[in-house]
Amino acid sequence: MCGIIGYTGSDSAKDILVNGLKQLEYRGYDSAGIAVLDPKTGIILKKKVGKVEELEKAAAEDSTDATCGIGHTRWATHGGVTETNAHPHRQGSVTICHNGIIENYKELTTEYGLKNTLKSETDTEVVAALLDKFYEGNPYKTIKKVVDLLAGSFALCILFDDQPGKIFAIRNVSPMVAASFDNEGNKGSIIASDLTAVINFSKKYFVVPEYHILTLSEDGIAVQDLKGRAVEPEILEVNWDITSAQKGGYPHYMLKEINEQPEAIERTVAPRVQDGLPFLADDGIDDDVLKNLKDIVIVACGTAMHAGMVGKSLIESKLRIPVTVEIASEFRYKDPIIDSSTLTIVVSQSGETIDTLEALRLAKQKGSKVLSVVNVKGSTIARESDYVLYTHAGPEIAVASTKAYTVQIAAMYILAARIGLVKGIMSEEDAREFMTKLLGVGEIMQKTIKSSNDIRRIANHIKTAPDVFYIGRGIDYTLSLEASLKLKEISYIHSEAYAAGELKHGTIALIAEQVPVIAIATEEHVYAKVISNVREVKSRGAYVILISQEGKHENAEVCDKQIFIPQIDSTFGVFATAVILQLIAYYTSDAKGLDVDKPRNLAKSVTVE
Ligand code: M6R
Repeated sequence: MCGIIGYTGSDSAKDILVNGLKQLEYRGYDSAGIAVLDPKTGIILKKKVGKVEELEKAAAEDSTDATCGIGHTRWATHGGVTETNAHPHRQGSVTICHNGIIENYKELTTEYGLKNTLKSETDTEVVAALLDKFYEGNPYKTIKKVVDLLAGSFALCILFDDQPGKIFAIRNVSPMVAASFDNEGNKGSIIASDLTAVINFSKKYFVVPEYHILTLSEDGIAVQDLKGRAVEPEILEVNWDITSAQKGGYPHYMLKEINEQPEAIERTVAPRVQDGLPFLADDGIDDDVLKNLKDIVIVACGTAMHAGMVGKSLIESKLRIPVTVEIASEFRYKDPIIDSSTLTIVVSQSGETIDTLEALRLAKQKGSKVLSVVNVKGSTIARESDYVLYTHAGPEIAVASTKAYTVQIAAMYILAARIGLVKGIMSEEDAREFMTKLLGVGEIMQKTIKSSNDIRRIANHIKTAPDVFYIGRGIDYTLSLEASLKLKEISYIHSEAYAAGELKHGTIALIAEQVPVIAIATEEHVYAKVISNVREVKSRGAYVILISQEGKHENAEVCDKQIFIPQIDSTFGVFATAVILQLIAYYTSDAKGLDVDKPRNLAKSVTVE
């Protein structure tokens, strides 16, 4: 939700900022802006509505070689998508970029009489106005004073006109990482919402500690806590390089990320197998906690929540342990029935989603141990959890989540096997067989990816449909929910997912001639039941696309098109089916000529409620 960047160093800042914003654009893309502090002419501000491309054109008109500046790509929360509302915001001698929400901005506006000073409708500009109001030449003191007044979440990058070459920064909840570097003469400091904009400069970085004031300069970064003490942040090292965050010849990040899934699964699963058994000691996950848990609550949002639903299906059927899946934004505002015997599993790609983070905090308050399944190293959710099981999807840039989803499912499978083993529900032999099958899913996914031509034809057929329905039972039903989200999100086609047996309780009224119904029937024990439901919609005119296992059931007569996943133990079919469903959404969006990677109204990580 918004991307911010700051650079100060030996090179001209303008292009570095614009290029950084391109990397961060997936976080928000309504409008973008940069401000550079030119010691000769002062602040140069450029803002544009639309994608970073527009900003790039505007920035090219300026020949400044200023070496210090900040930039922002916006996902609007307060105020419409206009140039005035775009960041950076400038008040007096202060220029800022902000990610997050200042909840008390209205109260502050009134209390400090700022109404006539403000030009935009944003919460952010109030912060700029307060900084300017209180500034008497000491940035540290001023920032501290203003931050004391703020309620809400924020990551702020600040320029003061009389502090050339310096960027000041502070954050609460909203993420920021920073690095200083010296690459053969190109020397400086960089700060950004995430690593994709930093990694070009340095593989070593630190997560900006909350409520610490950073001073970035060409010579390095000083970090001070709010008592004025110098702090040495923990330096982390990233294990992927910039090519992982680029398209690498694919037309879209989403297609690249779909193709990366076999490897991502391998990276996530292989290190957690020892002597053929599930092994989580290197992740610091305490077997006693797994052994003693009585029930499990999985909390997440969107796609991550759908991965949790697959986890529930697996854990309940294989281990007979009760699992509840909760939407984080609901969970956090109720009084959940959990205690120290509940293991709360929090699932999040970004590790930043505010609802998920607040749900985690509530679960901890209630005495539950929290284990998070997270992709982004050092993220807030990871840091606040008792245990972290990192997925190794690498950076996921497309807004529509694909590889993060399947590795989250893989993480659930590993966890389930370990819980089963330590509780004595699974024998060593069973756990070994389970892990061997899990290690094999990458290959099955690879084969499935190769069948994409059929899928492209199907996508071409459904691209003009006003509605698409997905049906399935059991695990296939949970996959339908995700498939439907994916299609809506990137193709803007209205879509619903139903448990196949539920249609005749109302929804079947919507089935008419040629309405596409995508039926998922990969699970052996409910196959015949799904086929009965398929017949029900077919006889009412639906255009049925059936997804099932190759060579098991050739049911050409009940459907219009059939897509096969390779033959596989039903429990592990989810990975291949997920690929097919992702490709259907991808090719439909592409066939409609839409911006697959940056669907309208969305942003990659949702750091607002
Ligand atoms: O970063 P998170 O996994 O916590 O994000 C949760 C959802 O916002 C996310 O899964 C969203 O639903 C997907 N981008 C949809 O494809």
